[in-house]
Amino acid sequence: MFKIGISLLLFMGISFAASPEAAPVLNEKYQDSSNCKSCHMPIVRAWQKSYHAKSHYDSNEYLRASMEYVHRKTRKSINGVKVQCAVCHNPRIAVTETGTDYEIAAVMNLDKNSAINKAVENDDIAEGINCLVCHNVDSIDENLPASKRGIHRIKWNPIGTMSGPFADAKSPYHKTQQRDFFSKDPKTLCFTCHANDRSVAGLVFANTEKEYKETEKQCADCHMSPKREGVASTLPIENGRAKKRMVREHGFIGAHTASMWEEALTITGTQKGSKLLLTITNDNPHNIPTGFGAREIIVDITYMSGSATVEQKQLSLTQHYTDKRGNVTIPHLAVKATEDFSIPANSNRSFAVGIPKGAGNALVTVSYRLVNNEVRELLELKEKEWSDKKFITKANIRF
Ligand code: HEC
Ligand code: HEC
Ligand code: HEC
Ligand code: HEC
Ligand code: HEC
Repeated sequence: MFKIGISLLLFMGISFAASPEAAPVLNEKYQDSSNCKSCHMPIVRAWQKSYHAKSHYDSNEYLRASMEYVHRKTRKSINGVKVQCAVCHNPRIAVTETGTDYEIAAVMNLDKNSAINKAVENDDIAEGINCLVCHNVDSIDENLPASKRGIHRIKWNPIGTMSGPFADAKSPYHKTQQRDFFSKDPKTLCFTCHANDRSVAGLVFANTEKEYKETEKQCADCHMSPKREGVASTLPIENGRAKKRMVREHGFIGAHTASMWEEALTITGTQKGSKLLLTITNDNPHNIPTGFGAREIIVDITYMSGSATVEQKQLSLTQHYTDKRGNVTIPHLAVKATEDFSIPANSNRSFAVGIPKGAGNALVTVSYRLVNNEVRELLELKEKEWSDKKFITKANIRF
């Protein structure tokens, strides 16, 4: 097998086929967000702060460490892993698959000038999920199997055509076209990637689409902003002024933003005999935490007697992942996960904890951590944001 692989490789002069679904090659007029600044500056600024803009090996410590970890543990080349993750993280990549030939070439250091290395190192994907990833989409195929996400569901526009919410938008710089997944409800666009994130063993560890309970509010109402009067473009196109439109902010704020967490959940408690029954309620239309695996909700309980502390307890609501040997691992390599403790959409979850003797009340604080201790230690994450405890809510429960 190995021999045939190499001779075939040499015979073919090391060329690797790019899959037909790959995005069309960009040109410098539309390549990145700097091309949009002169007419869409406020949008570019808001997007730059979002985690969509950090979705690249070079820009997000957690993403980079996870890619390296998958590479080390599976022995797949690092570029092979990058292409695998690019399906949702960098969908403008020019290749969508790497084969055995490439893996052999990478081991032998014969991959330097390959199409795959060029695609992975290309500036076109350096901005992660940028303007073009969303606005160059022509259609989304929702009838594919649930495991086909991101790049596999998308058909791209010709370069220079921007899809958006308006049917009557005219721009001197690019063509425009209206699409329902911008104007009516962007959910379909969001679920292209925010669904069915699975490990190499096929374990689904994140699925916002499956959790979602239909409400009046759209994803964009909470994660961008409610629609308000503003301008889509600052270019003076209407009687010497920018045209007024109903628009949203492009912040895509989520789990990394402390203000998003404040009162995202509420907690109540009652005494049941010698136990304290805590109930955490989630009024949002998806579970909390939703999305990425190994997020953690922490419940700190301090039992008091007057002003004296009687006892302290901590509950950690998170999932633990194990590989086929039963060793702890990261979500992407998991064969098994422990029970899901997330608080269900538009619903609640209760936990019973013992009340120590002499306690008159309990101060309960609920907070959040982006990465649980186990995964943070495995990946040796250094940046503070991954271990920071963000405040959600608190209560003082009297017995
Ligand atoms: C993750 C997908 C996504 C990314 C990335 C994105 N947009 Fe949007 N954009 C949307 C959605 C969704 C809407 C429609 C919101 C609505 O009207 O409900 C929108 C609307 C717009 C509009 C119409 C006016 C408005 O604000 O509603 C413009 C113009 C626009 N985007 C430009 C940009 C530019 C420029 C960038 C890059 C800096 C960008 N977008 C990045 C999803 C995206
Ligand atoms: C020279 C100015 C200019 C530049 C540069 C420019 N645009 Fe626009 N764009 C406009 C104008 C003008 C409109 C129409 C605004 C309106 O009708 O309210 C528009 C509209 C849009 C819309 C909404 C389309 C619709 O039908 O709803 C999107 C999306 C968009 N632009 C994305 C981009 C992206 C992405 C870039 C960078 C690659 C970009 N634009 C660069 C001027 C520009
Ligand atoms: C092309 C795939 C793709 C599409 C389309 C997409 N996202 Fe994302 N989104 C991602 C990825 C990947 C991340 C994680 C990026 C990272 O942290 O490096 C992310 C992160 C987020 C986050 C987390 C931000 C944070 O601070 O924790 C939110 C919220 C979000 N997206 C909302 C949306 C919404 C709303 C839409 C639809 C308008 C959307 N996304 C469309 C791929 C996508
Ligand atoms: C009523 C407001 C609301 C709506 C509507 C909503 N969300 Fe959220 N979302 C939140 C809150 C609050 C958080 C912060 C808590 C968290 O991260 O679990 C959040 C977090 C997220 C995150 C980050 C999770 C993480 O741990 O990184 C993603 C991704 C996300 N939402 C996607 C979506 C998508 C996709 C939709 C539409 C299908 C949507 N949300 C609709 C309120 C909302
Ligand atoms: C099916 C689409 C999809 C694929 C494929 C995918 N991801 Fe993601 N990933 C997402 C989405 C969507 C988010 C944002 C979820 C959220 O914030 O809740 C995300 C978030 C992440 C995060 C958390 C980032 C943060 O800022 O907190 C890491 C780490 C990550 N992915 C690693 C990877 C790695 C490594 C691969 C390849 C082995 C990969 N992902 C492949 C969709 C995908």
